[in-house]
Amino acid sequence: MPKAEEYEIEETEEDPEEETDDIEIHGKKYKDKIDGLTEENEKFQADLENQAMVIEALKAPPQLIADVYQVHKDGTAIVVVDNKFYRVRFHPDLKGKLEPEMTVSLHRNSLSITQIIDPLEGGLIAKVIETLPDQRVKVAQRGDEYIIRTRKTVAKGDTVIVNPSVSIISENLGRQSTRFLLEQVHETPWTSIGGLDTVIEKVRETIETPFAHPDLYEMMRKRMPKGMLLYGPPGCGKTLMATAIAYNLQQITGGGTTAGCFLRINGPEILDKYVGESEQTIRELFASAREEAATNNHPVIIFIDEAESILKTRGTGISTDIYDSIVPQFLAEMDGMAKNKNILVILATNRQELIDPAILRPGRIDLKMEIPRPDARGTREIYSIYLQELPYDKEVRKNAEQSGRQPHDYLAEVMATWIFRDRPEGEYEDISGATIENSIERAKGYAIKRAIHDKTKKPELGHGDLVTGWEEQSIETEKLGGNKK
Ligand SMILES: Nc1ncnc2c1ncn2[C@@H]1O[C@H](COP(=O)(O)OP(=O)(O)OP(=O)(O)O)[C@@H](O)[C@H]1O
Ligand SMILES: [Mg+2]
Repeated sequence: MPKAEEYEIEETEEDPEEETDDIEIHGKKYKDKIDGLTEENEKFQADLENQAMVIEALKAPPQLIADVYQVHKDGTAIVVVDNKFYRVRFHPDLKGKLEPEMTVSLHRNSLSITQIIDPLEGGLIAKVIETLPDQRVKVAQRGDEYIIRTRKTVAKGDTVIVNPSVSIISENLGRQSTRFLLEQVHETPWTSIGGLDTVIEKVRETIETPFAHPDLYEMMRKRMPKGMLLYGPPGCGKTLMATAIAYNLQQITGGGTTAGCFLRINGPEILDKYVGESEQTIRELFASAREEAATNNHPVIIFIDEAESILKTRGTGISTDIYDSIVPQFLAEMDGMAKNKNILVILATNRQELIDPAILRPGRIDLKMEIPRPDARGTREIYSIYLQELPYDKEVRKNAEQSGRQPHDYLAEVMATWIFRDRPEGEYEDISGATIENSIERAKGYAIKRAIHDKTKKPELGHGDLVTGWEEQSIETEKLGGNKK
């Protein structure tokens, strides 16, 4: 029975193959177990090591952070910590890797450098005033000047981040052009200025003509104007005039209204904001203008309002050291402007006698325009500008019609005649465009108030409103010690 035989054989005789299988299964089981245990053991080991590291880290003394100032071949380096310099050793692994200006951590006790770390963000802001040979630069920080050796590429005018001892430049922020931004001049046609016809005529002749006909100037080799001084009492239109010049020049030179061409800066702002850097600021102001004029090929106006605050006569006692450096810088910039025909400097002041005469010399700011207080005619013109297209009351409309004039012209005439009634000289020491405009604003307020009280009526401006507006404005001006300077 071959079948039974086969069975018996199977039962009695040990199959060597099966035996091997068994061992393998057992072996694998143990192996898996061992593997599992090993893995677990490794995890415990790692956990333990982690714990040990945490304990170690928590127990470790704090590391100091320093900036590397110099690296020497003898395995030492000079580092700056807390405004102090130390000569320290560094880990041999750092040889060849350590460089000046890097940020490192120091061992608390030995102060030796243990590690290079990422630079800290932040620090003090300084300005590069000059680049010097041997990778050195002169920077200004809070009015003081420092020399720093740096491997970074920096240029004059760049803003840099320095460490507290101003010995290392940690970052170069590049040129910060936010200081002098071109201003969009709002629409200021010549017709928005009242009572200054003669001045406007002269300004247009001197400033607009060269830009409108540069070819003729070229042929005649006539100098382009470099600048002008607008002087006169407060509130009479100096700033307004400068804005109008910029606006109209923009129109002529095709800049349209999109291209800005007005770099406005207030004298006191230069002093306050850029203390100790005023000279540098002047340099930058002109540099920005040059850059803008060259890039967009249109004229740029540098407008320095309240110019007396920075351009005071040097060495007179009224000036301090500050002016002794700003004025020469300004003169140098003016003299260097000959090559650049696209820049125009306008200074405004109500203390022209304080301005250093060298600035006003021919070839520099040689055009001086007085912006006087309005006389009766000027007053009428200014009233007329600000009274246009308003709702007037019945009486005004009737009287205007009878006199054959527009209501705003009529009212302007009446007001100017009344204000100058006792002034045969035509002079009024407290009047200005600003006070006139302000008195009209008050008058409008009364008309609005009436309309609020009596809801059946629309606001309408009357002659009485203007008179009260003027009187109240005058009382206020007087209380404030007049409108003189
Ligand atoms: N001649 C004028 N025609 C029309 N408005 C004028 C005139 N003068 C002054 N104003 C009005 O008064 C405001 C103030 O004038 P502006 O700022 O030009 O005076 P300023 O001469 O620069 O004075 P400050 O010396 O105080 O700087 C102007 O914005 C304008 O609204
Ligand atoms: Mg002004």
